[in-house]
Amino acid sequence: MKQAVEARSGASAQGAVDGARSTSPAPPYYLPCADEVQLFEQCHANQLAVMLKGPTGCGKTRFVEHMAWRLQRPLITISCHDDLSASDLIGRFLIQHDRTQWNDGPLTTALRSGAICYLDEVVEARQDTIVVLHSLTDHRRSLAIEKTGELIHAAPGFQLVVSYNPGYQRMLKDLKPSTRQRFVALDFNFPPAQQEIEIVMQESQLDRPTCAALVGLAEKLRSFADRGLAEVPSTRLLVATAMLIARGIPVKRACQVALVAPLSDDATLVGAMHDLVDLSFP
Ligand SMILES: Nc1ncnc2c1ncn2[C@@H]1O[C@H](COP(=O)(O)OP(=O)(O)OP(=O)(O)O)[C@@H](O)[C@H]1O
Ligand SMILES: [Mg+2]
Repeated sequence: MKQAVEARSGASAQGAVDGARSTSPAPPYYLPCADEVQLFEQCHANQLAVMLKGPTGCGKTRFVEHMAWRLQRPLITISCHDDLSASDLIGRFLIQHDRTQWNDGPLTTALRSGAICYLDEVVEARQDTIVVLHSLTDHRRSLAIEKTGELIHAAPGFQLVVSYNPGYQRMLKDLKPSTRQRFVALDFNFPPAQQEIEIVMQESQLDRPTCAALVGLAEKLRSFADRGLAEVPSTRLLVATAMLIARGIPVKRACQVALVAPLSDDATLVGAMHDLVDLSFP
């Protein structure tokens, strides 16, 4: 079994969901950019599954963490990959001492405990794995475990959230229409400039003028998508750059290692991006 599961508010998936309430003292910082908080709250109240679409590093995961805290639900995160099987989600019999014992997978744990179950990069999972989610995302809200004969009804508060980056491997991987139409889809993108400045300041504790200059630089770099840059600089990269600057790394060096170098190996593109850094920080 190759599986990446993370549970917040507890040491393990099981530990996290023993109590229905999240115990996280500090709310995960999230600055709303539009009406996504209200929409998510209504989806939660109406038992609707949610799909978050958007480029890497634009705040999808942080948003889910924040909403789980806000709604006081445990959060179980599953990073999807093409080896992920239905059993990895649902559970399996394991040999313990002289007998076999059923072990719930993270999806089943979330169902029983009314957690928010977040499947990150869901398009990476195989169709036969994703299809397991179907009965949970319509009126049935239940999961039949063939191996044990159990039919589990989702506990109140259970919500399925998936995310993916539509730009990434768009041609190779997509969700089936029958899967897509089970979700309310929220489009994410990089925050508007003023919000992005606030976020970078809050996350890095760097001064406002430098954060504003970084965000201005990022906006220019993002136009490089037209010139062949596969992934444009994310809010995550801006935060990393600002953190380095705030800890004493010279601005241009920080931009070089944290903002430009992660984006491309193409010497021409990298050179052009460095020129923009020089212009932004003369
Ligand atoms: N609206 C926001 N409020 C607060 N922080 C934000 C916001 N948007 C982005 N961030 C910052 O950007 C970082 C990256 O965001 P996050 O990890 O949520 O991206 P993601 O969309 O899940 O990316 P990926 O698709 O690669 O998983 C966060 O750690 C946070 O510092
Ligand atoms: Mg994420």
